[in-house]
Amino acid sequence: MGKKVLTGITTSGIPHLGNLVGAILPAIIASNRPGISSFLFLADYHSLIKSQDPELTHNSSFEIAASWLACGLNPNEVTFYRQSDVPEIMELAWILSCVTAKGLMNRAHAYKAATNINFEQGTSDLDKSVTMGLFNYPVLMAADILAFNADQVPVGQDQKQHIEMTRDIAARFNHIYGDVFNLPDAVISSEAGILPGIDGRKMSKSYNNTIPIFLDEKALLKAIRKIKTNSLEPGVPKDPETCTVFQLYKAFASISQIEEMEVRYGDGIGWGEAKDILFSLVEEKIKPFREKYSEIIKEKGYLENTLIEGSVKARQAASITLKDVRDAVGIKSFQ
Ligand code: ADP
Ligand code: TRP
Repeated sequence: MGKKVLTGITTSGIPHLGNLVGAILPAIIASNRPGISSFLFLADYHSLIKSQDPELTHNSSFEIAASWLACGLNPNEVTFYRQSDVPEIMELAWILSCVTAKGLMNRAHAYKAATNINFEQGTSDLDKSVTMGLFNYPVLMAADILAFNADQVPVGQDQKQHIEMTRDIAARFNHIYGDVFNLPDAVISSEAGILPGIDGRKMSKSYNNTIPIFLDEKALLKAIRKIKTNSLEPGVPKDPETCTVFQLYKAFASISQIEEMEVRYGDGIGWGEAKDILFSLVEEKIKPFREKYSEIIKEKGYLENTLIEGSVKARQAASITLKDVRDAVGIKSFQ
């Protein structure tokens, strides 16, 4: 079967240009490589940790699925599914939670961040507002990965700890019950590939500084015009390396376009013009995706069927692992 590469996308919020260049396009390119089996899924049960808004969870699942397909994911080449359509994952999450030390979960970043906020606010109960979902988040993520015995897990730097915890949990299970799980490796996207948002910090839903992928042309231009720049006048040479407009341009441009733009910066291009050039390039790249997206988003039935077909493939793979897991722990038929 070759190497199994698996990654999940939490279905909260709308995908932005950072997601496109940092996750969506690289995953699609990787899925076309020979010898790779790709598992890509909508982490909809994860979204309940962050959001208790049913409409947001539902719509986001639908929009994210449409985004991946619009950007070129071929569902016949990969296993593309909704986490909630694969009950084996939830079953595994329980079994794994029974070999996971509570102390390990106490050290998880997301949980620690929540207790730190309570500490800083002087709240006597450090666990105030912490749900069991948040606390168990790394176990569910381990189940997502181990249900398929994935070899590689491409994720952002912030998720690295979860893959380390997955390895700890898998090793603990193997130690108690015998070798069932493969220990997966994280594949971390390089810091160099991090796209800045309109305020210059990392583009992220959490910073409210994103440029969504599927804005219409007018809204895209408006978002690009909002990118923060310094106050240098046209005619004054500018440093491309420290400039957000240039960093975004670089993510979409060819080598010769990048070189040309560097010369224009040296010549003191005005910010208005630099932004117009950036807009034309992004618009050219995004347009075909946007057109496809507007078609797919109308096809609820197509999206549903694609995901159901994906879940059939996913369940086939996960049920093989689950059979081994159940046997290993002694939950099996009497004969
Ligand atoms: P957000 O920070 O907006 O919540 P996510 O954590 O949902 O984004 O990101 C999903 C994936 O998209 C990450 O694992 C990462 O690979 C990629 N990604 C997110 N933001 C960026 C960015 N600014 N630049 C490059 N890649 C990014
Ligand atoms: N927690 C990840 C995120 O917020 C998404 C995710 C859920 C995931 N399960 C996963 C990523 C399993 C990789 C493997 O980005």
